[in-house]
Amino acid sequence: MKVIKTKTEMRRIVEQAKAAGKMVGVVPTMGYFHDGHLELMRRARAECDVVVVTLFVNPTQFAPGEDLEAYPRDMERDTEMAESIGVDYVFAPSVDEMYPGGSEGSVTLVQVEGLSSVMCGCSRPTHFRGVATVVSKLFNIVPAQKAYFGQKDAQQLAVIRRMAADLDFPVDITGAPTVREPDGLAMSSRNMYLAPVEREQAVFLFKALQAARGLIESGERNSRSIEESMEKVFSGAPLVDVEYIAICDSIYLRPLEILSGEVLIAVAARVGRARLIDNMQFKIE
Ligand code: PAJ
Repeated sequence: MKVIKTKTEMRRIVEQAKAAGKMVGVVPTMGYFHDGHLELMRRARAECDVVVVTLFVNPTQFAPGEDLEAYPRDMERDTEMAESIGVDYVFAPSVDEMYPGGSEGSVTLVQVEGLSSVMCGCSRPTHFRGVATVVSKLFNIVPAQKAYFGQKDAQQLAVIRRMAADLDFPVDITGAPTVREPDGLAMSSRNMYLAPVEREQAVFLFKALQAARGLIESGERNSRSIEESMEKVFSGAPLVDVEYIAICDSIYLRPLEILSGEVLIAVAARVGRARLIDNMQFKIE
C-alpha cells in the first residue's frame, strides 16, 4: 500500500489504472477508522481492481467552534488498518495541498440547495457546502468509476448523490449499510468523546429508531404517532439532548405526514460533548 500526498501524483495513478482497463474505487474518509470505514473499504476491495481511500479532515465542513481541532487523528493506525483490508492507496493530502492559500481562500463552493438546509443543516448551515465542495474536489483528484459512502450519514449521501447527478460526475455511488456496536450504537469517530455514562445512554438513538421500526412493522403509517413514541423512548435518557427527529423521503428529504415509498427516519442528538446522528430507512409499498 502506498500513501500519496499530492494531487498530481494521485490523479496520474488513477488515470493510468483506468487507461489499463482497471476499475477504480474510492472511499472518502476523515480517518480515525472504525469498522464502518473498514466495511466500505472491504466492499470496494471486493468490487474494484484498485482501491483508493482518501483521508483528509476537511476544515471547510467544520464551522468555527466545532470540533475541527479535537477531531481524532491517528495516521499510523489508520494506514495499518487500511493495509490489512488490502487498500492500494491512501490519499492523505495536507490542508495546503487541498486548499492552496488556506481553506478560507477557497472561493468556489458547491452548494446543494434545499437538501443542505434541512435536518443537520439547521444547526450546521455551512456543513454540507463544505462536504459537497471537498467531495467534488476528491472526485476530480481521484477520478474513480465507483465511490463508497455510508448510509449512516443519510443526509450527506443524499447531498452527494444529488451533487454528482447535477454536476455530471461520471461516478457510480454506492451507499453501504450502517455498522453498529454490539448494543446497536452506530459506529462513529465521535463516540470517543463519550464518558461511560453518556456511552450507556447514547444507545437510545438506536432504541428510538427500533421503536419506530416496530411500529412500522405493525402497520403504523402516521409520522406524528411514530415521532411521539420515539420521544417517549428518549424520555428515558436524560443525557441525550435530541436536536431533531426527521421523518422524510430519503432522496429529497421532504417531511412526510403519512409514510410511503422510500422513507428515512433520522435523529440527531447531543450527548455530552458529542453530537451523534443515526437513521433507519424503510421501503413502504
Ligand atoms: P467520515 O465521518 O470519516 O466517514 C467516512 C465514510 O464512512 C462516510 O461515507 C460515512 O458515512 C461512513 N461511515 C461512518 N460511520 C459509519 C458506520 N457506522 N457504518 C457505515 N458507514 C459509516 O463522512 C465523512 O467522513 C466526510 O464528511 C467526507 C465524506 C469524507 C467528506 O469530508
